[in-house]
Amino acid sequence: MSLENIELRGEVESYVESHLLPIKPSHTHAYDNSTKNGLPMIAVSPVQGQFISMLAKLGGARNILEVGTLGGYSSIWFAEAVHGKGKVTSIEIDEHNRQVAIDNLQHAGVKVPEEVEPILGAGLDVLPKLVAEIQEGKREPFDFVFIDADWDNQWNYFDYGVKVARGKGSVVYVDNVVREMFESGVVGNEEREKDACDLVAKVGRDDRVDSVVLQTVGAKSYDGFLMALVK
Ligand SMILES: C[S@@+](CC[C@H](N)C(=O)[O-])C[C@H]1O[C@@H](n2cnc3c(N)ncnc32)[C@H](O)[C@@H]1O
Repeated sequence: MSLENIELRGEVESYVESHLLPIKPSHTHAYDNSTKNGLPMIAVSPVQGQFISMLAKLGGARNILEVGTLGGYSSIWFAEAVHGKGKVTSIEIDEHNRQVAIDNLQHAGVKVPEEVEPILGAGLDVLPKLVAEIQEGKREPFDFVFIDADWDNQWNYFDYGVKVARGKGSVVYVDNVVREMFESGVVGNEEREKDACDLVAKVGRDDRVDSVVLQTVGAKSYDGFLMALVK
C-alpha cells in the first residue's frame, strides 16, 4: 500500500459507483440538464450524494437545510433521505441555477415546494429570516444543515447553521473545507490571505458543538468536509 495508488482514485470511484450506486435516471438527468443549461460541474459526486443522504438517514433527519442549491443534485439526494417524513429547504443566490434546480427536482418526481423548498436569495439575507421564523414557531428547526455555497461566508453560515438547528444531535456539515484551507493559505505553502477565515479554528473554539474534519479523496479532487454535532 502506498500513496502512489492515489492516482487510481478515479478508477476506484468508478468501481464503487458501478457496484454500490444503482443508476437512477433522475440523478443522471439532473447532472446532464445542469450542464446543458451552463451550470458548472461543482455538484457533489454521486458517491458523496449517497454518503450525505445516508448520514441524514442515520441521524433520523426530517428537516434539512442546504445553503447552495446549484442544479438541485444534492437536494434530490436529501429529498430521498427524508421522503415521507420531512422536507428540504435550499437557499440559492442565482435565479437561473434555482430554475434549473426546480426543473431537475420536478423531473425527479420531487414536489416543489412541499418536499424541497428552493429559496432565492443570498445566504446571509435568508438565514436570519429562517432564525426569526423558527423563533416565531412558523418553521421547524433543522436536523441537518449542509453548507455548500461561497467559501468566504463559511463561518457565518456555520454560525447560523447552529442557530437554526433543532438542538442536541443536530448536524452541521460544511463541504470543501480542506480545499479552502489550502487556497486561503491557512495550511500549506500559499501565502495566507489577509482576511482568511480559519473556519476550523473558529469551530474548535465553539462550545456549542463537537466537530471533526475528514479528508477525502475522490475522482475530482483531494478535499474534505467538516462535520459538527450540536451538543
Ligand atoms: C457548490 S454549488 C452547490 C452544489 C449543490 N449543493 C450540489 O451538490 O448539487 C454552490 C452554489 O452556491 C451558490 N451560492 C454562491 N454564493 C451564494 C450565496 N451568497 N448565497 C446563496 N447561494 C450562493 C452558487 O450560485 C452555487 O449554485
